[in-house]
Amino acid sequence: MTVPLSQIEPFARGGNRVCYVHPDNPHCCVKVPRPDFTLQDRRRKKRFPGNVRSLASFDDNGQEASVVASLLRLHGESVHQHIYRCDGFVETDLGPGLMTELVRDADGRISVTLKQELWERGYPEATRRAVEALGDFWLEHLIPSRELLTHNIVVQKGVHGEIVRLVVIDGVGSPYLIPFDRLPKLVQRHKVARRVRRLHKRIRKFIRHCDSGHQPSRVGMLMHRGSSYPCAVGFGAHLCVLPSHKD
Ligand SMILES: Nc1ncnc2c1ncn2[C@@H]1O[C@H](COP(=O)(O)OP(=O)(O)OP(=O)(O)O)[C@@H](O)[C@H]1O
Ligand SMILES: [Mg+2]
Repeated sequence: MTVPLSQIEPFARGGNRVCYVHPDNPHCCVKVPRPDFTLQDRRRKKRFPGNVRSLASFDDNGQEASVVASLLRLHGESVHQHIYRCDGFVETDLGPGLMTELVRDADGRISVTLKQELWERGYPEATRRAVEALGDFWLEHLIPSRELLTHNIVVQKGVHGEIVRLVVIDGVGSPYLIPFDRLPKLVQRHKVARRVRRLHKRIRKFIRHCDSGHQPSRVGMLMHRGSSYPCAVGFGAHLCVLPSHKD
């Protein structure tokens, strides 16, 4: 059956995909490619040698589904502590959609990104520890990924507002020509460690940026939080000023 998405409001929009709550399952996120930015457009934007890669390599949904499946085979269920579940494809009226775990807080609202969390609350000890735990996990399991960006990590909160886990919802997989698992372990470790170091550096830079009074971009800010609660933040028609952690 074709899942009707075109008449509902997405909860988020990334550079490449639009994200919806599955109309029949509030715990399922359906991601469809952005209609205004095709795989051909993405390839055209790349310079050589990126622009000779196969079209399939630009398909984030296809890549993600296969990478998450192979990580699951390799490491078992524990991989979903920090990487979201992918549950296969479904036909939608906006094209094929990837179904994934929709990360929600204990109060039922869709979890915000680490970027939004840092902007709203700064970088207290508990968030530092959660970021450390994610980095340790990445290193322990030698997870291949593109850069770990704060708008591709969501912060799941428990009943008392405590951080339960950080979940990477975009960017897993190897951007290298040689398959990651064929690289010597030492090289794998070096590459993963660099991703983790850069995540820490990126967070420090973002905090400095906020502290100096800059507004962050809208990337990684939710359009709504998937419930009837009034949404605290958003953009487009729902634009309101985000509270800064300095307020
Ligand atoms: N499973 C999920 N649970 C909760 N929030 C999610 C989930 N998947 C995506 N999001 C939200 O949707 C936003 C966009 O999703 P996603 O990163 O997959 O899109 P994209 O187009 O691939 O992003 P990019 O611009 O980084 O390429 C994320 O920043 C996040 O806020
Ligand atoms: Mg993203």
